[in-house]
Amino acid sequence: MKGQIEKKEYFEDNVLPFKNEFEKDVYEGLRSSPKHLKSKYFYDSTGDEIFQEIMKLPEYYLTNSEFEILQTYKNKIGNLLEHLAPFLLVDLGAGDAKKTKVILQHFIDKEMDFTYVPVDISPDAIHNVTLTLAETLPDLAVSGISGDYMNALNSLPRDQNKVILFLGSSIGNFTKEETLGFLKGISLKMNPNDLLITGFDLKKDPEIILAAYNDRKGITAQFNLNLLRRINRELDANFDLSLFEHYPSYHQEEGEARSALVSLQEQQVFISALDLHIDLAGGEKIHTEISRKFDFEEIEDLARASGFRVMENLTDSKKYFTNSIWRKKA
Ligand code: AVI
Repeated sequence: MKGQIEKKEYFEDNVLPFKNEFEKDVYEGLRSSPKHLKSKYFYDSTGDEIFQEIMKLPEYYLTNSEFEILQTYKNKIGNLLEHLAPFLLVDLGAGDAKKTKVILQHFIDKEMDFTYVPVDISPDAIHNVTLTLAETLPDLAVSGISGDYMNALNSLPRDQNKVILFLGSSIGNFTKEETLGFLKGISLKMNPNDLLITGFDLKKDPEIILAAYNDRKGITAQFNLNLLRRINRELDANFDLSLFEHYPSYHQEEGEARSALVSLQEQQVFISALDLHIDLAGGEKIHTEISRKFDFEEIEDLARASGFRVMENLTDSKKYFTNSIWRKKA
């Protein structure tokens, strides 16, 4: 208890007692009510691997839907951005660029003049994707950046035309405020007529959405629980994973799939690196993720509010997902 009070005082004096942002976010999130942890911390190396598994699940329709869109409309996309050549194709959160390869191959076949700029927080991801692309698409000019998206955009030459990709519905993991702030931030880094292509998961039958976050094999449950494993390992904590359960829900009114970890009994957990005891009641939830779903009106409103105009909403045959192509207003 003493440790907790001291830490708070240090923090209020603005002298950070934390070694890094992860420590600070875990400390603040588990001391708030309701308790929460940020979903960006899912992605340690185990989390990355589990997410790859999620993307192969039959219930997780998002990945195949976006693949279908890029495959079906690669020619149309090429035609829409051809006039910007030579341009930088900036892929925010590129990962292994598996989906982006569909359009990269097409643009190369069309002999378009562009440089591919994969951006990812993970330096390993950038290293690996650069090596793989050198083998599989040797004619592609690649200039990867590892780091924060906004810093990456800042480091690019201002006067060069840009097409920015933000695929995979990662926009859905932001709160409403974060979404607008992020899109406005991107718009500030773009020149008039530059393009932004964002993946949005669309509102649909709630059962289909819920199943995507509650797969039968329990892979999404492992993804969620891995966050506690990460805290155990990195912050020397003693979460007993068998005393927590993955708790997904879909809130149709708000269009939000939410994930939480529910405590199966009253318990106390100790996080040594933070000198912090956490009390959990039986049934108490730790909120871990929001995955927002959109309709076309909301997409239109977001574009307008952040300085863009919607050019095209490309959808898959089931209308589950859209890649929305926006032009920065002149
Ligand atoms: C990365 N993001 C778009 C995924 C989503 O659908 O919100 C993360 C995820 N969480 C559970 N399953 C997948």
